Amino acid sequence: MSDPTADLRFPADFVWGVSTSAFQIEGAAQADGKGESVWDRFCRQPGAIADASNGLVACEHYQRWADDLDLIASLGVNAYRFSVSWPRVQPTGQGDWNRAGLAFYDRLVDGMLARGLQPHLTLNHWDLPQALQEQGGWANRATVDRFVDYALAIERRLGDRLASLVTHNEPWVMAELGHHQGIFAPGVKDRATAMQVSHHLLLSHGRALKALRAHGAKAKLGIVLNLAPMHPATPSPADRAKAQLEDGLLARWYLDPLCRGRYPADVWASLGDAAPQVAEGDLAEIQQPLDFLGVNYYSRTVQSADGSWTNQQSGRELTDMGWEIYPEGLTELLLRLQRDYPQLPSLWITENGGAFPDELKDGRVADEARTRYLQQHIAAVHEAMQEGVRVGAYMVWSLLDNFEWAFGYSKRFGIVHVDYATQQRTPKDSARWYQQFLQQQKKA
Ligand code: NOJ
Repeated sequence: MSDPTADLRFPADFVWGVSTSAFQIEGAAQADGKGESVWDRFCRQPGAIADASNGLVACEHYQRWADDLDLIASLGVNAYRFSVSWPRVQPTGQGDWNRAGLAFYDRLVDGMLARGLQPHLTLNHWDLPQALQEQGGWANRATVDRFVDYALAIERRLGDRLASLVTHNEPWVMAELGHHQGIFAPGVKDRATAMQVSHHLLLSHGRALKALRAHGAKAKLGIVLNLAPMHPATPSPADRAKAQLEDGLLARWYLDPLCRGRYPADVWASLGDAAPQVAEGDLAEIQQPLDFLGVNYYSRTVQSADGSWTNQQSGRELTDMGWEIYPEGLTELLLRLQRDYPQLPSLWITENGGAFPDELKDGRVADEARTRYLQQHIAAVHEAMQEGVRVGAYMVWSLLDNFEWAFGYSKRFGIVHVDYATQQRTPKDSARWYQQFLQQQKKA
């Protein structure tokens, strides 16, 4: 199949990157004074992780960070999206700061700048300090202010060198999968708790942005949402209504307060007793101007009125996660976001990529399916830009094969293969393709 990106030209200032997160790659879970996170704890729960693995070693990025940065630079990207482990820099989530932890991120950020990479930092990619969980975690309103303290400490230490700072990665996942379905840390199964958590995450985002701006933060400030078109299984009014409500829970529940200062009325009404406690003034605090919205895109979902859903439409190719490969959904999503939320100045694809059953053979991973996935999605971004959508960045998930949460190490999302026995990194064919593509863009 020919490469759909072959003749595409992106603006010279477009941000091209790769993404990772702390818990998924760092390892060194107990090194140099790091505190326990909810994910460290969750991994010890029997049956929680498919391969019974954990984040103790992961990709040993805590030790191998300099080589990993060399690898990133060699791809020809101009940006690296990473996250800070809150318990590494503040072991119990309040009080004392861990100097060794802060020093690690200091070196990492300097290392990026030395290699010409823009640092894009995420504060919360799910690894809340366990000590805060013991006080109720995100269900406890007091955590909101702990998070603001943490955000300000990071700004003080690293803010002068950051290109962007994201408060939360995928709040829907933390709320819904962590507190309603209970399949992610902290493993709570209660819908009302989940909705309260979503409100506290949004509130902490707004308060942090306000505090960071008051502090003179120079980095661009934003939040990252996991978004997917929700399609009705049939054109029947019942299926359409269900798809509309599910889109409300996934997307509008977050976008409306962030951009319009209110929760969507239809979703609120559907929650009944599970609706969150919202104090006066909260919504005004949540609605802080965003410098960009981060969008993590993987697939679409198809909904039926009876509550069943699938992301495996028949006849479509699936990734190793069982997710339908649906690049046109990314164009659709970007157009919809700019149409419905014109106040968003810029949309950044902060994650996009696929897990595939890769095989390392004779020092090579021939992952054509992943290369095709990336090509089709980059072309879908270009298409949206042609239609006038302001897109500023595209970052591949992920740099490395890593700890895929409840799936452990069984799913490989990297454009670089990791041999977990030796920690050997091998760029896959998709990494080579990305590198060539970026070279082409520079020539243009
Ligand atoms: C979204 C999450 O932010 C990331 O941590 C995860 O590994 C990828 N999606 C793939 O599921």
